[in-house]
Amino acid sequence: MPHRSIAEAPNPLREGLRIKQSPEPCVMIIFGATGDLTHRKLLPALYNLALEHPLPAGFSVVGFARRPYSDEQFRQQALESINAFSRQKPVNPQVWESFASGMFYLESNFHDPTGYEKLGTLLNRLDQERGTGGNRIFYLSTSPSQYPEIIQNLGAAGLNKNRKGWTHIIIEKPFGHDLASAGELNRQVGKVFKEEQVYRIDHYLGKETVQNILVFRLANGIFEPVWNRRYVDHIQITVAENLGLEGRGGYYEEAGAIRDMVQNHMLQLLALVAMEPPIAFDANSVRDEKVKVLHALQPLVGRDVMNNTVRAQYGPGWVGGHQVPGYLEENGVSPDSVTETYVALKTHVDNWRWAGVPFYLRTGKHLPKRVTEVAIQFKLAPLMLFKRSDAQGQVEPNVLTLRIQPDEGISLKFGAKMPGTDMQIRSVNMDFFYGSSFVREQPEAYERLLLDCMLGDSTLFTRRDEVEAAWTFVQGILDAWKEEPRELVLSYDSGTWGPQFADEFIWRDGRRWRRP
Ligand code: BG6
Repeated sequence: MPHRSIAEAPNPLREGLRIKQSPEPCVMIIFGATGDLTHRKLLPALYNLALEHPLPAGFSVVGFARRPYSDEQFRQQALESINAFSRQKPVNPQVWESFASGMFYLESNFHDPTGYEKLGTLLNRLDQERGTGGNRIFYLSTSPSQYPEIIQNLGAAGLNKNRKGWTHIIIEKPFGHDLASAGELNRQVGKVFKEEQVYRIDHYLGKETVQNILVFRLANGIFEPVWNRRYVDHIQITVAENLGLEGRGGYYEEAGAIRDMVQNHMLQLLALVAMEPPIAFDANSVRDEKVKVLHALQPLVGRDVMNNTVRAQYGPGWVGGHQVPGYLEENGVSPDSVTETYVALKTHVDNWRWAGVPFYLRTGKHLPKRVTEVAIQFKLAPLMLFKRSDAQGQVEPNVLTLRIQPDEGISLKFGAKMPGTDMQIRSVNMDFFYGSSFVREQPEAYERLLLDCMLGDSTLFTRRDEVEAAWTFVQGILDAWKEEPRELVLSYDSGTWGPQFADEFIWRDGRRWRRP
C-alpha cells in the first residue's frame, strides 16, 4: 500500500498534542549533536513530530559538535538512535527520508569562532534552499560548562538575532550548579539574548500528567474549594526511581539528588500544585504564579536544615531481581563521596492558602520501583460518629493521588461501608486511568516542548526569576549540608524505600510515607 503523506495519515495522537497553529519553517541547531540526550531524546522527539504532525516543510536540523562526521554519518547515527529510542517503531521510510534530507552536520569546537561563521553561512544557505525564513532554534545540549562560550560565540557571530525571522535558544538542565552560578549564567544569557528568546527546559513540564495538574485543579469546580489549609492536612510529592546512575557518575557526583531532581522537577511539581489560579493561561501569567509559590517557600537554613531534611546514599542491594552495586562502587564516583542519592525534606508554603500545611518531598535512586506522584491528604471529618468500637474498620483520611508516572492517572481514596449488618468501614479507591479513558499513547515530554518552542510558547519553560527562586530555596540547604558532619549522610540498601530515619522523620509529625 502506498504511504500517505504525513498530513493525510490518520492520526489519533494529533488531538493529544494540540496545535495552536502550524509552526513556521525553521532550523534547529543542536550543540552537542553527538551526545546522549540528542540521540535518546531530541532526535526521536523530532522524528515523532515529523511522523504525527505537519512539521513545517523545510524544517531542518544542524548538528554542531566536535566529532568528524559527514552529513551522511550524522543521518546514519540518527537513524540508529531513532530505531532504538523512538516511541513509534519501526521507522516509516518515507517520513524518515524526508526528515533526513533536512539534516546537516557541522564539525567544530565550541570555542572556535570560525565554526560559528561557517554556521552562519550554512543557515543562510538553508534559508535560501529550504525556505527556513531566518527562523532558528539553538539547542544547548552540551556539558553545562560549555554554555557560556557557546552563548558568547553566538552573540559575537551575530547569530543571536536575525534581520528576518525569529531566534530562540533552548538551554538544558542543569541550569547552574548553585544560586550564584545560575545567576551568572542568567546574566551571560541576558547579555546576548532577550528573555523572550530564552527557553530553559525542565522536561517534567512537558509531561502530559504534569500539565494535567492545572487542568484538574482549574477546569473542575469541585476541587479548588478544598485545595487549601482548611481541608488539606499535608501533601507528599514522591519521585522514586529504580534506576541508578546509568553511566553518569561524573555528572551525578557534582549534582546529587537535590540538584538533579529537587531544584527543578520537584519544585516545579510543588509550584503547580500550590500556585494560585493565574489570571490567564499564558506564559507570563502562569509563571508569575509559580514564582510567587517559590518565593513563599519557608527558607530552610542552619539548624532547620538538619531538622527538616534527610539525605542518604544507596549501598549495595537488589533492585528488580538484580544485584546492584552501592553508589561508592559506581564508575566515576569517588570512594569517599558524600553525594546524596536520596533526599527527603519538609517545607511550608508561607501564604494564606497553605499556612501550616507541610509539603513532604522525597526522591531517590535505586528505590524499589519507578513512581512519581503527588498525594494530597485531607483532614479527617470534623466529628467522628463512627468510633472504632462500633465501626470496626479504621477510618482513614481521604487521599487524592495524582499519578504522574507510570500508571498515569488520578485516584481518590475514601471510606465506604462494608456490606453487612454491622458498621464496618474500609478505604476504597475511585480511579481514573489515562490509558483506559483516552486509549491513546501520550507524546513524549520533549515532543511537546520542542513544538512549543517552535510556536514561540514559553509557558512550559522556566523563566529567569523562577530558576533563581528555586535555587534560593535549595541554596540554604546546600550551605547547611556543607557545614554538617559527613555522618549525616545516611545509607540505605538498594531496593528499599530509603533510610529508616526517613520514616522516623515523618512519624515525628504523626504521619507516614505512602507506599506507592
Ligand atoms: C533527569 C535526571 O532530569 O530526570 C535523571 O537528570 C533522572 O537523573 C530523570 O533519572 C528522570 O526523568 P523521568 O522522565 O524518567 O522521570
